[in-house]
Amino acid sequence: MARITYLECTKCGTHISADQPQTVCPKDGGVLYIRYDLATLKKSFPAASLFGRTPSMWRYAEVLPEAEPVSLGEGFTPMLPSREFPNVYIKDEGLNPTGSFKARGMSVAVTMAKAYGLKKLAAPSAGNAAGALAAYAAAAGIEAHLFMPKDVPLANRIECESYGACVTLVDGLISDCARMIAEKKEKEGWFDVSTLKEPFRVEGKKTMGYEVAEQLGWRLPHGIIYPTGGGVGLIGMWKAFDEMQQLGWIGSERPQMVSVQAAGCAPIVKAWDDGKTSSEFWPDAATLAAGLRVPKAYGDYLILDILKKSGGIALAVTDEEIMDALRHWAKVEGIFAAPEGAAALAAYRKLRANEFFGPDDTVVLFNTGSGLKYLDVIERQRLRAQPRPASRHIGGIIGPY
Ligand SMILES: Cc1ncc(COP(=O)(O)O)c(C=O)c1O
Ligand SMILES: [Zn+2]
Repeated sequence: MARITYLECTKCGTHISADQPQTVCPKDGGVLYIRYDLATLKKSFPAASLFGRTPSMWRYAEVLPEAEPVSLGEGFTPMLPSREFPNVYIKDEGLNPTGSFKARGMSVAVTMAKAYGLKKLAAPSAGNAAGALAAYAAAAGIEAHLFMPKDVPLANRIECESYGACVTLVDGLISDCARMIAEKKEKEGWFDVSTLKEPFRVEGKKTMGYEVAEQLGWRLPHGIIYPTGGGVGLIGMWKAFDEMQQLGWIGSERPQMVSVQAAGCAPIVKAWDDGKTSSEFWPDAATLAAGLRVPKAYGDYLILDILKKSGGIALAVTDEEIMDALRHWAKVEGIFAAPEGAAALAAYRKLRANEFFGPDDTVVLFNTGSGLKYLDVIERQRLRAQPRPASRHIGGIIGPY
């Protein structure tokens, strides 16, 4: 495994020691990236050395922090060729432990928390990050304190409680959950593992970038469509591409990175359309894709920069388009996706229709989670969409016919 050389601020470039747990840059609040000595590593770590290794994300141990992994078998998920669209692949993250890609980030975050001797972790979550943190904290024997909106999918609350985590349901959004943790953490002695306010979740999520390259035979696709809430996966994959280039595994080519958001909460899309370098808080955020209900992403400046550098785009899809894509994927591909993942298909359809992508472009769609975690959400949607039976009044009896 790699010894961390330093943590680097993505805003001011300051170097910070990894000897104790870090959060964000003390000077400007910038997101911190973990840096390794890749020039030295390049001499001893060819891509071919991965052959025959364990099929989990820890196969990339040389570019992950040096510590005993807290692992539940996360990563190395299938890269499935679409049965509907030639040249399209579905990276099925629903097969991770706890049923979503959040497992990757939490595996590394908890690994490092354990290595640092931290005993109490806290996180605000739209649901799946909480489930993942609860599971890895349980495996590591660490306390997890989780704050989620009170209308979180049922599976997320039940899994967290089953893993023995302390769950607080909040009458508000993930931003309100984050504020509550910020207010309490000092008094309670919690270490905050909020999205991008803790540097190791990105390290876990970046392994998706390594896998995309390895599973496509070290050729990057033309495009990657990523359902974006906090944007950690998109940011992590971009970091992975830079690292792989420094290791000599790929060249300077990059995929066009696409952020898809829900029309009811699309701060990145608005900032992109307005040509801004950071986003504004999205008021009254509402979508059935719980993981996309992030009104202001902490790493918005990184996401927008990546979209620009990659020649990508941000676009929004409606909840109706998401549900239609979810059902279609299940029927045509045999993949029961999370609503967030289905948003990637809805986005691909739009980007084919407007010719952003052509039929020959290789595009990877990220299904970030399993539909099985959203049964209550999907059922509610089905009942809402059903035509209401007409009520007729015949001979004093009121009833549906
Ligand atoms: C299934 C799913 N997809 C996508 C997202 C958004 O992920 P990110 O915050 O990395 O953009 C989430 C976040 O909760 C999620 O649970
Ligand atoms: Zn800084």
